[in-house]
Amino acid sequence: RTARFTLDPAFTVGTVDPRLFGSFVEHLGRCVYTGVFEPGHPTADADGIRGDVLDLVRELGVTAVRYPGGNFVSGYRWEDSVGPAEERPRRLDLAWRSTETNRFGLSEYISFLRKIGPQAEPMMALNLGTRGVAEALQLQEYANHPGGTALSDLRVRHGDKDPFGIRLWCLGNEMDGPWQTGHKTAAEYGRIAAETARAMRQIDPGVQLVACGSSGRSMPTFAEWEATVLQETYDLVDHISLHAYYEPLDGDVDSFLASAVDMETFIEDVVATCDHVGARLKSRKKINLSFDEWNVWYMSRTQEQVSALDWPEAPRLLEDNYSVMDAVVLGSLLIALLRHADRVTVACLAQLVNVIAPIMTEPGGPAWRQTTFFPFAQASKYGRGQVLDVRVDSPTYDTEKYGEADLLHATAVRGEDGTVTVFAVNRSRTEPLPLDVALNGLGPTSVVEHSVLADADPDARNTLAEPGRVVPHTAEGTTLDGGRLTAVLEPLSWNVIRLA
Ligand code: AHR
Repeated sequence: RTARFTLDPAFTVGTVDPRLFGSFVEHLGRCVYTGVFEPGHPTADADGIRGDVLDLVRELGVTAVRYPGGNFVSGYRWEDSVGPAEERPRRLDLAWRSTETNRFGLSEYISFLRKIGPQAEPMMALNLGTRGVAEALQLQEYANHPGGTALSDLRVRHGDKDPFGIRLWCLGNEMDGPWQTGHKTAAEYGRIAAETARAMRQIDPGVQLVACGSSGRSMPTFAEWEATVLQETYDLVDHISLHAYYEPLDGDVDSFLASAVDMETFIEDVVATCDHVGARLKSRKKINLSFDEWNVWYMSRTQEQVSALDWPEAPRLLEDNYSVMDAVVLGSLLIALLRHADRVTVACLAQLVNVIAPIMTEPGGPAWRQTTFFPFAQASKYGRGQVLDVRVDSPTYDTEKYGEADLLHATAVRGEDGTVTVFAVNRSRTEPLPLDVALNGLGPTSVVEHSVLADADPDARNTLAEPGRVVPHTAEGTTLDGGRLTAVLEPLSWNVIRLA
């Protein structure tokens, strides 16, 4: 059976915030060391930033880059990470049982972002686990105040005359999780988040603040946590965070392929909770969503790996090697974010390099694209503009976790120049899916390109030995005729159909 939907410019979801294509650099494993930063690497510049990685980061199209954690941030002492590199202290990183050298710190992070280009925006996480209001204010003053105070002048003495201009701040990380150093109840966290936010706004009323929501929809405190935190912080913050990671558990591939069903439900539940608190407070303000950690992550393997560590520097951790099937799921998660672009205005693919990442590196050796690189890069490049409201009429399949799920998952974005890009996933593992889209009152008259990520072997991957094994290819036979787009989506495929 054919899957169908209609596109009409009168029916839109909202405008895509560029920060929907954010990413995340945590001091974890080899994300920073031998990932982004490797002095002495043949492509490294004078600051130790790997040129081959920088090129791939630009091609990936990332915008906001969240830093320095993650769980790491709950032990982070910002003052350890500034000043002369050789004087910085080595510290135990409790989150990942590793040793942190602080060789890469705040100034290096900002300089890395500036090298990526103007599209890259800092998103700095604060330690509200083992620290509090005072340290947050010190960091804000050091980073953003132009000069003439002890901390801003210290930054200048450290070689950074220009303030860092950090606008977007996360008030802690996953504070609902018992694994978090300095874990808190919702009431405890709501108070410290509110007081930190209030004080930070005294320095700069224009800061944009993200309160911690739940670290997963399955957390026992989910929704109650958001309601309690927002009751305290509603007028003081702009966003609430969501985190979600997906993997096929117990071999349940069909549910894994429908992971975006869970992501969309999660988003809708958080929107409902935000709006409920807003109604209770009789507020006209809307809280937006920062989906600041999302990805496919074979997490069940991680705990064992971490507990076996004996405080190494930059160990190989969470280095998942992604298959074509993983990339199709990641594409579907991108579709879920775009479908909610009216309220999800920040999102960060966790993470950027080596650690559950689209970019991999070998120390002293090459950098390459994982399969998941392609859907992200294409969505960031072509998913800019107005998201059109897509209601699919699709054949379905059965999943253990989510019941009946559509085989087609899709969205469409209309650019400022009138072009339209359809992003679509066929979840069927065995069958091609015919697609029929009616275009009402839209300008495009032809298909520019139908790009597909699929493979006869859905387990195919890019590796150090074979870094170019998986790349997108062009589909033949896709047509746009008299306002009717027709295509056939290969089994288990990610599709980008560009119309002009
Ligand atoms: O991204 C890896 C980890 O996942 C982060 O440190 C933490 O916030 C989350 O649990």
